[in-house]
Amino acid sequence: MTTHSSDVLIVGGGAAGLSLALRLSQDDVSITLLSKSELTEGSSLYAQGGIAAVLDGDDNFESHIQDTHTAGADLCKDAAVRKIVEGAPKAIGWLVEKGVKFTLIDGAEYDGQDSEYHLTREGGHSHRRVIHAKDATGREVETTLEQHVRSLPNVTILENHIAIDLITSEKLKGRSDSRCFGAYALDIDTNKIKTFGARAVVLSTGGASKAYLYTTNPDTSTGDGIAMAWRAGCRIANMEFVQFHPTCLYHPYAKGSLISEAVRGEGAVLRLPNGDRFMDQHHELAELAPRDIVARAIDYEMKKGGFDSVFLDISHKSKEFILDHFPNIAESCETYGYDMTSQPIPVVPAAHYTCGGILSDLRGRTDLKRLYAVGESSCTGLHGANRLASNSLLECLVIAESSADDIRQLLKKEESPLPKLPQWDESQVSDPDEQIVVSHNWDELRRFMWDYVGIVRTDKRLERARNRVSLLQEEIIEYYGNFRVNNDLIELRNLATIAELTIECALTRKESRGLHYTLDYPASREFAKDTILTPNNFVSHAPINEWGS
Ligand code: FAD
Ligand code: SIN
Repeated sequence: MTTHSSDVLIVGGGAAGLSLALRLSQDDVSITLLSKSELTEGSSLYAQGGIAAVLDGDDNFESHIQDTHTAGADLCKDAAVRKIVEGAPKAIGWLVEKGVKFTLIDGAEYDGQDSEYHLTREGGHSHRRVIHAKDATGREVETTLEQHVRSLPNVTILENHIAIDLITSEKLKGRSDSRCFGAYALDIDTNKIKTFGARAVVLSTGGASKAYLYTTNPDTSTGDGIAMAWRAGCRIANMEFVQFHPTCLYHPYAKGSLISEAVRGEGAVLRLPNGDRFMDQHHELAELAPRDIVARAIDYEMKKGGFDSVFLDISHKSKEFILDHFPNIAESCETYGYDMTSQPIPVVPAAHYTCGGILSDLRGRTDLKRLYAVGESSCTGLHGANRLASNSLLECLVIAESSADDIRQLLKKEESPLPKLPQWDESQVSDPDEQIVVSHNWDELRRFMWDYVGIVRTDKRLERARNRVSLLQEEIIEYYGNFRVNNDLIELRNLATIAELTIECALTRKESRGLHYTLDYPASREFAKDTILTPNNFVSHAPINEWGS
């Protein structure tokens, strides 16, 4: 049994994890990067619309800041919003320098930093300010970053390694300094659990939308980092704010195929099955209202009319325009038998983004010393009660840079070597007798989260979900205690924690605000307040005290 040691352990290879690795690699820092699937598999790879940034002379930071606050329903932390919005042009410049090719305006040519980029529009933005690479921005960003990170000699990339739990002072005899020393991870190919020690640990594990039956997210989004941090004693905030994307292709085999908001930004309208438009009855910005409003309006119209879906229609634009702007989305629709250039396509809302997460400051620091959280797994205060479209990749990029700066400072300090870390103990467990328990519980959890903790909530539905999750957790704990772990079980255990935290936050909020809408309390309270959950093993002498700044 050995401990794999490095200066920094990064868990997750999305936009957050890769940017951080790249930022840190300028120094002589040894990094281990774990990814539970292939390196690039995660939400970042599938991002479509783009990255919000003030890049146009007619636009300004105050406007982007105001739009972010408006979408966030008075719950965004102003310091977080300002830092991230004002950091956007530099972050985009960094990506361009790394080789990311954003779409140019018609007829323009590449000339490095001063190129004239096409900016698209998305819901809640009062200007065109979303820079993109056609309709596959995430792929362009993620694969460019991947190429750089793979070529770095000081980064050890371990794919198919799923982190299970953090190693903290609590697990070490005689230590009471409330810090993180590393993590245990399962090597999925060999079925062996390894111990990773590090002077700093970063959770960049993405969101938790797989807790829902219908989601735009890939299979990796099971909230592992959030659940691990909670178990390790960190506070978790605002989990009730689950963002449902309004337009996901409706087809039995499409498995969460997103239709970017940029399609509406470029003129698409939403229609009922009879062809009537309806968004103008719900908000003055109609199809370009903030996402929570559009998703709720669709949900309302579907329930009222008993429809399976509504329809998104951009067929009034020329075929050339549609294929030029949305080549990948058009191809994906065609795979399922829809021609978006000539017909409206059926769409439904689906779980898309986790606004809450590990409470972290603007350097990614969490309650636990030497544990950082960056990207969708974190909650910096940027998104408040509802994320503004295309602010997420931006947050990954800006916070990765400031976390790298903080970690660099930390590593400069003299310190004694890492203590001997306890190895994972498998002496009391056997191989699982049947896997059906795990797959059944996966399905049940995702279904009750969809039915009872979805777009429209009530206390009764939430209580029902709470009872179900507590029964599931009993079963999972028993199973976990008796059998050797595998990745399905690790993820199920985390999803159950995510469900518990989401329900707890939702029951705490006795009002409707942003993405949390409850029929029992339809109005917003006068003052906006965060929902912060504190674990039983929270160590009060170590908390960050500047959340959102
Ligand atoms: P991810 O990119 O999800 O990466 C998480 C990584 O962690 C993965 O490598 C995963 O394998 C790994 N991981 C997770 N758990 C473990 C574990 N236990 N052990 C080891 N590794 C683990 N945002 C925008 O700003 N603009 C957009 O246009 C946009 N479009 C989107 C379209 C889609 C379809 C989706 C799903 C999301 C979109 N978003 C968009 C949101 C945005 O893509 C994500 O919020 C962002 O990419 C999250 O980046 P991340 O690095 O935090 O996580
Ligand atoms: C989209 O392209 O609609 C997704 C953008 C986002 O989630 O920010």
